Amino acid sequence: MKTRAVTEPGRSPRPLVYAWPGREALAQALAVELDADVGALAVRRFPDGETYVRLLTAPAQRRVVLACGLEQPDDKCTGIYFAAVTARELGAVDVGLVAPYLAYMRQDARFLPGEAIASATFARWLSGCVDWIATVDPHLHRHASLDEVYSIPAAVASAANAMARWVAREISDPVVIGPDAESEQWARRIAAAAGCAHVVLRKTRHGDRDVSIELSDPAGFDAIAQRTPVLVDDIISTGQTLAAAARLLRGARTAAPVCAGVHALFDDGAAAALAAAGVARVVTCNSIVHPSNAIDVLPDLARAARGAFELARTARADPPGPRT
Ligand code: R5P
Repeated sequence: MKTRAVTEPGRSPRPLVYAWPGREALAQALAVELDADVGALAVRRFPDGETYVRLLTAPAQRRVVLACGLEQPDDKCTGIYFAAVTARELGAVDVGLVAPYLAYMRQDARFLPGEAIASATFARWLSGCVDWIATVDPHLHRHASLDEVYSIPAAVASAANAMARWVAREISDPVVIGPDAESEQWARRIAAAAGCAHVVLRKTRHGDRDVSIELSDPAGFDAIAQRTPVLVDDIISTGQTLAAAARLLRGARTAAPVCAGVHALFDDGAAAALAAAGVARVVTCNSIVHPSNAIDVLPDLARAARGAFELARTARADPPGPRT
């Protein structure tokens, strides 16, 4: 096979994308978008649980991109840190992280005295670890944008258009339903792009696996009756949010709802909870690799990543001047 030279005359060496195990498709999408090479990386655990990282492709003089989702973040952060530090030690120009799922965004306030505000603290750590990030639909609730907590260029791809295309193609006479106030942003955009109505429910969370859901306006059932309800949410973790919403709909004798989520965290028991609630089908985006994946968001993410990649280049070329 003919390989391209790392450096072409008069040009900087091409960027290098390292894929975390299982993230090869993401690395490939980024390589195409950024005109980059895919490098080889070894990540494994020592028998005592510590993390081993080796950059098998030399990163010297190259812009480096780590392709690694942040689901189960505590298993991955040490490896990301070791890879970023090692890449710089070995001469990388800069290091970006493309994480289709961005962790710790839901703990965005000190709800009880003494709690860590994980969203901000994690963002501070990650902003010191890499030069830019790109992700898909981070859970922005009390933070208006990632720039509130991240001090590096942070690009966000929206899954809404890809989800809307799926809804328009697969569901006849759909009505999009958001299970809680936060989901209004996704429900509104998906419904608008799919050309259908949307309804937002009201959720009260009593505990990690205990939520109750009601319809803010009972007249809303009129918009749902005779249509196919499509419940949309950014995260399916325990599945309890969508299961409670599905039970509410089934109680009102709607058709069996379809669930469409962005990030398939799927804790143990989530799939069973959704099936028991009577959902017809569950589909997710491939921001987290899962058997329910049916919607491809990698091209949108790769395009968004290009934005942060270019911003980081500009920031390097034109660093802020001294304060006057
Ligand atoms: C929170 O408001 C999110 O948007 C999701 O609704 C929530 O994270 C889903 O979690 P679970 O599946 O555990 O109910």
